[in-house]
Amino acid sequence: MLVTGGGRGIGEAVARGLTARGLAVTVFARTAAELDRVVASGGAALAVAGDVSREADVARLVEAHQARLGPCDLLVNDAGVLVRGEVDALDPARWRECLEVNLTGAFLCARAVVPGMKARRRGRIVSVASISATLGTPGASAYNASKWGLVGFTKCLAEELRPHGVQAVAVSPGSTATAMLQQTPFAPAMTPDEVARVVIFAALDAPAALTGANLEVFG
Ligand SMILES: NC(=O)c1ccc[n+]([C@@H]2O[C@H](COP(=O)([O-])OP(=O)(O)OC[C@H]3O[C@@H](n4cnc5c(N)ncnc54)[C@H](OP(=O)(O)O)[C@@H]3O)[C@@H](O)[C@H]2O)c1
Repeated sequence: MLVTGGGRGIGEAVARGLTARGLAVTVFARTAAELDRVVASGGAALAVAGDVSREADVARLVEAHQARLGPCDLLVNDAGVLVRGEVDALDPARWRECLEVNLTGAFLCARAVVPGMKARRRGRIVSVASISATLGTPGASAYNASKWGLVGFTKCLAEELRPHGVQAVAVSPGSTATAMLQQTPFAPAMTPDEVARVVIFAALDAPAALTGANLEVFG
C-alpha cells in the first residue's frame, strides 16, 4: 500500500489506519524526518523520501515498495500543496507548482502502479481532492483547478480500469485540522482521522461499484 503525503495530516492518519488494519504501508513525502517519525511510531512499515512531481522519485518509490513489501494493490494519492494568490498577482511558477504536485503527481503515481494492478486484476487508487474543486474561492484558482482536475482524472482513470477489475475513487474533504488548513482563513470542520476513515472505506470496504465516484466529506 502506498500513501503519498503520508508524513503528516490526512496522509499520516490514512497510513496509521491502514497499518492498524494489518496492511504493510509505505509512506512518501519530501520531509524524511516526518516519514521516519510515522514509521518509528508504528504508523507505517517503510518510508521513502521524494517528490511526487518527479518521475524518477516516483519510480524509486514503487521499486522500494515492491522490493520490501510486495506488489502495490492500493495507492492513496494524498500529497498536495496549497498555493494562494489572486490570478493577476499569482506567479506562473507557483501555478505550475500547484498543478505539478496536486495533479501531475497523482498521474505519475497512478501511471507507475497501474500496469501491476492490471496484470493482477486487483487494485484501487484513491485520490484526495477537495470540496474546493467545485467551489469558487477568491485567491484559490490554482488549488481549485488542480483539485477539479484530479476529480476529472479519477473519473477517466476509473473508466480505463473498469475492464481490468481495478477501481479509482476520489475523496473530497472540506476543512480539516492540519498544517495546510492553518494557511487559510477557514476553521476546521473535522479531524484528519475522520477523513482517513472515509479514504479507508473507499480503499478497502466500498464495493467495486463505487468506482469513479467523488465522495464529498463536509464534516
Ligand atoms: N486540510 C484540509 O482542509 C484539506 C481539505 C481538502 C483537501 N485537502 C487535501 O488533503 C491532502 C493532505 O493535506 P493535509 O491537509 O493533510 O496537508 P499537510 O498536513 O500539509 O500534508 C500534506 C502532505 O503532502 C506532502 N507533500 C506536499 N508536497 C509534496 C510533494 N511535492 N511530494 C511529495 N509529498 C508532498 C507533505 O509532505 P512534504 O511537505 O514533506 O513533502 C505532507 O506529507 C492534500 O492533497 C490537500 O490538498 C486538505
